[in-house]
Amino acid sequence: MSAAIMDGKAVSALVRREVKERAALLASKGVKPGLAVVLVGDDPASQVYVRQKEKACDEVGFASFMRYLPASTDEKELLDLIDGLNSDPAVHGILVQLPLPKHIDKDRVAEAIRPEKDVDGFHPINVGRLTLGIETMEPCTPKGIVYLLEHYGIDIEGKRAVVVGRSNIVGKPVSLLLLSRNATVTVCHSRTKDLPDVTRQADILVAATGKPKTIGSSMVKGGAVVVDVGITRTQSGLIGDVDFDAVKEVASYITPVPGGIGPMTIAMLLLNALKAAEACASSSMRR
Ligand code: GUN
Repeated sequence: MSAAIMDGKAVSALVRREVKERAALLASKGVKPGLAVVLVGDDPASQVYVRQKEKACDEVGFASFMRYLPASTDEKELLDLIDGLNSDPAVHGILVQLPLPKHIDKDRVAEAIRPEKDVDGFHPINVGRLTLGIETMEPCTPKGIVYLLEHYGIDIEGKRAVVVGRSNIVGKPVSLLLLSRNATVTVCHSRTKDLPDVTRQADILVAATGKPKTIGSSMVKGGAVVVDVGITRTQSGLIGDVDFDAVKEVASYITPVPGGIGPMTIAMLLLNALKAAEACASSSMRR
């Protein structure tokens, strides 16, 4: 039997509708949520993502502050721009699109964003809070993965979760979110020995390698829940890390590419920006 599809596009539309309602309520109290998105350089994929984020902001009634900087921008100029956004009361969330040009230190950039405006959840303080299990701004893609699993009623507690990929953006934080929900989590990476042997143990398998079709059907246990985070652009369209057509015959649930985790990431970005704006509004009311 073929797996049920976890429809990120449909679920993200529900999230965006809720965000729009809460944003309107906030705006009626005089606070319009504002999200700043900074793109340095002209990476075509990043340009697409940034445009999607701007469109999503417009649709839910946020103010978007788009900043397009040339690839030649030096680190100091970017840090100065972030400083300005940090102190702008109309900006509640700041996102600097990755990857950055090589001459800019992404860690220094992440540290420059005020933690309460860090809608990506990349600031070391927010990463530390996530690690400690303290309420924080959770990174958007991991948050979207868990949101989608929970939307489909997939029980995480006690399950064996295998995450393939250990990036700071997806692999590490999604492992922490799954762990916080009492999954038994294994993180695999390029040096993992006998990867198929590990992935076949997964009740929940998250593929975040960025390498198309790394996960074939022989790597998946019957009835597993499979989440595909990869998006690789090829001439024949977008391709995930999972061989969808083969794996859907083995899995119980699976996310498609496109239309799976991608739209969830943007929806979670909106939720994080809304959360930042709501926190800002309630702290100014207390003052
Ligand atoms: N590039 C790819 N994914 C992300 C993300 O989640 N946040 C940012 N800022 N850049 C990205």
